[in-house]
Amino acid sequence: MARVIVVTSGKGGVGKTTVTAGVGRALAKRGKRVVLMDADLGLNNLDVVMDIENRVVYDILDVVENRCRPRQALVEDVAVSGLFVLPGASYDDGARIGGQNLRAIINSLSPSFDYIFIDCPAGIEAGFHRAVAAADEALVVTTPHISALRDADKVAAIVKSYKIKASLVLNRARGDMVIGQEQLDYADISDLLQIPALGVLPEDDAINTYNCFLTDEKEKSEGDVAVNMLADNLLSGNVKIFDVTKKYRGFFGSIKRSLKKIV
Ligand SMILES: Nc1ncnc2c1ncn2[C@@H]1O[C@H](COP(=O)(O)OP(=O)(O)O)[C@@H](O)[C@H]1O
Ligand SMILES: [Mg+2]
Repeated sequence: MARVIVVTSGKGGVGKTTVTAGVGRALAKRGKRVVLMDADLGLNNLDVVMDIENRVVYDILDVVENRCRPRQALVEDVAVSGLFVLPGASYDDGARIGGQNLRAIINSLSPSFDYIFIDCPAGIEAGFHRAVAAADEALVVTTPHISALRDADKVAAIVKSYKIKASLVLNRARGDMVIGQEQLDYADISDLLQIPALGVLPEDDAINTYNCFLTDEKEKSEGDVAVNMLADNLLSGNVKIFDVTKKYRGFFGSIKRSLKKIV
């Protein structure tokens, strides 16, 4: 049976889809069978981020309305086998998808997969509740910015009320700002939200590109290293956090920090 993990945040644009795609890909590369389910109706973009939008035949509404079976709607990744996307509908018709529908899809896929990630819509409306109610675990994604934290706090409280395991993923962390005490560190945010941290991803423009396929470890971006650490933590149950401050410590580190302030 699959582990069913909802990736949620409250605020939009903080990295839910990025985390879903990155962690899903990392786990599939470790041999796991993974489904990424786009439950963000209307603003669905997992298909674009995963670069499968030209191969979408059926979407989640087709499954709900019995035009196809859940397995038929899955689109497999070209590069990583065992990684599948269940596309969301590109028009917002959430009223046609109930909590039972999501659970029925998950129950049907669960025996054949190791992980099912649900890319949750932003906000705390019906679509969010449907997605959280269908999951066994939640990754609460936030950036260190005040507006995101406030929404994450609300979401954390609701997720806890569903009595599912919640873990924090801090995205877009800036090591130079943490050292300069201009940004909260993940430990402070974990305290604030009262959710244990499972991963920290740095601000990294390369995070959505395909450099995860590079075989030379040295060429990998920081974002990719951090996404892989998060995937390993999910897999192992241990918690190793990517240190965003490391490259800004020491003599050369302080030069990098000063340069970052100038540019
Ligand atoms: N760690 C990061 N560093 C740089 N850009 C990021 C990072 N995480 C996400 N982004 C960018 O932020 C934007 C929103 O991310 P996305 O995952 O689509 O958010 P959400 O699904 O929560 O709305 C995207 O353009 C994405 O590439
Ligand atoms: Mg998204």
